Amino acid sequence: MLAKVLSSAVMGIDAYIVDVEVDIAQGLPSFATVGLPEGAVRESKDRVKAAIKNSGYHFPSDRITVNLAPADIKKEGSAFDLPIAIGILGANQLLENASLSNYLFLGELSLDGHVRPVKGALPMAITAKELGIKGIFLPAENAPEAGVVEGVNIYPSDTLSQVVDVLQGFSKISPFTVKINTLFETREADVDFKEVRGQENAKRALEISAAGSHNLIMIGPPGSGKTMLARRLPTILPPLTFSEALETSKIYSVMGLMPDGQSLITIRPFRSPHHTISDAGLIGGGQTPRPGQVSLTHNGVLFLDELPEFKKNVLEVLRQPMEDGKVTISRANSTVTYPANFMLVAAMNPCPCGHLGHPKRECTCSFLQVQRYRSKISGPLMDRIDIHLEVPSVPYKDLSSVQEGAGSKEISKRVCRAREIQTNRFKKKGPHSNGSMNNRAIKKFCKIDAESSTLLEKAMEKFGLSARAHARILKIARTIADLEESPDIGSPHVAEAIQYRSLDRKVLR
Ligand SMILES: Nc1ncnc2c1ncn2[C@@H]1O[C@H](COP(=O)(O)OP(=O)(O)O)[C@@H](O)[C@H]1O
Ligand SMILES: [Mg+2]
Repeated sequence: MLAKVLSSAVMGIDAYIVDVEVDIAQGLPSFATVGLPEGAVRESKDRVKAAIKNSGYHFPSDRITVNLAPADIKKEGSAFDLPIAIGILGANQLLENASLSNYLFLGELSLDGHVRPVKGALPMAITAKELGIKGIFLPAENAPEAGVVEGVNIYPSDTLSQVVDVLQGFSKISPFTVKINTLFETREADVDFKEVRGQENAKRALEISAAGSHNLIMIGPPGSGKTMLARRLPTILPPLTFSEALETSKIYSVMGLMPDGQSLITIRPFRSPHHTISDAGLIGGGQTPRPGQVSLTHNGVLFLDELPEFKKNVLEVLRQPMEDGKVTISRANSTVTYPANFMLVAAMNPCPCGHLGHPKRECTCSFLQVQRYRSKISGPLMDRIDIHLEVPSVPYKDLSSVQEGAGSKEISKRVCRAREIQTNRFKKKGPHSNGSMNNRAIKKFCKIDAESSTLLEKAMEKFGLSARAHARILKIARTIADLEESPDIGSPHVAEAIQYRSLDRKVLR
């Protein structure tokens, strides 16, 4: 007898349907899986056999062949256990009246027949819905993430026998539903800008950075609050839209990193990988491609603390995602693409000892040491960082003050307004924000008057700024003007923007 059951697997962050065909023929007892099974899929047999027996069903002692189609893609993971078990029971005539083709089956099986969580349930549910499949039997733990897909019934399943009972018509599972609106109503970050005392300068720079989506580097001594500030950047960015949330959630689903019981990632991710990370860890890779930190930060903030400590090659591989907003990984038999659209925030000490420019403590580094330290950051990466922000230590009186500054909600409103202006300016074509303007766009949208032009020229001479700095200053000035809802860039905007290019100055403070 032959049975066909539908299941699914992921490629990149999208899922495709896998036909699980099970044939039971007379002959010496055997159990073979064909169709490029890898690792966990190959081991599936033993789990399936035990799960079927321990659930009280007969396991046929005949020749069993399982084919996973399409046969030319390598199959990973353990989600095929449940569909294979259902296929065997179907081929063994236990599920005669069940219309198996209406359903998708996902789930790992434990030896006692329990259904265990799988990776990628969200994209799999999306694919099932697109193909008009009526329902999905999947592990109860994965129901919250799959439940955000409307138009397909999600049946949270605990055990193999429970699924069989439902298919035989002996019992029912009520479909799992998620109220999407409430997911967005209740979202609240656990940090807020109002917890930052003083640091008005830094807060202003972060607001500009968020408003124009400008990458940023903070330079300041240890303990000055760089990490604290960076953590709060996601809270002033515009809230995630549903489609952004869905895209980010797909990556977490594929990695099996969706927090327990959570349906969607509704808050912009913030991730801060350690400086010992490998290039594959950062941008993704591996023999079976997996997304890296940059993709887990999709639509969020990637924080690289102690930037000069990162290996040079690791920083270099960041160029592709920063330019394209995605990572493409090519392997002999496949090419996958992971989205990776993030804002970069970096931090570094001003010098190896950390005290350069400190009002009270003395810096023990030589000029050469400072130069060597700063030159560790590659030019191409610095080219993509618009804002340089000096973060001094906060005086004690500011730290101990009870006065609260502006909170995230208030700042976020101004940021959203500035983003709207940019959306209208660029329409659908071209850049999404001031931060992603290329030279042509800068020429077109960042015109300055004679007064500003003179000011900029003088500053470039005085501080020895590079041509690279010139274009960045214009971009930042555009964002500052947008925050004021001013259609023209004026000299105060340019004057403020000049302050945010301290690393370009030829003279060290
Ligand atoms: N402006 C500030 N307001 C309130 N607390 C601060 C401020 N700056 C620093 N702190 C406190 O000092 C700690 C160290 O700051 P941190 O962000 O880790 O510094 P850095 O990353 O620059 O070394 C923070 O956890 C925070 O409690
Ligand atoms: Mg820190």
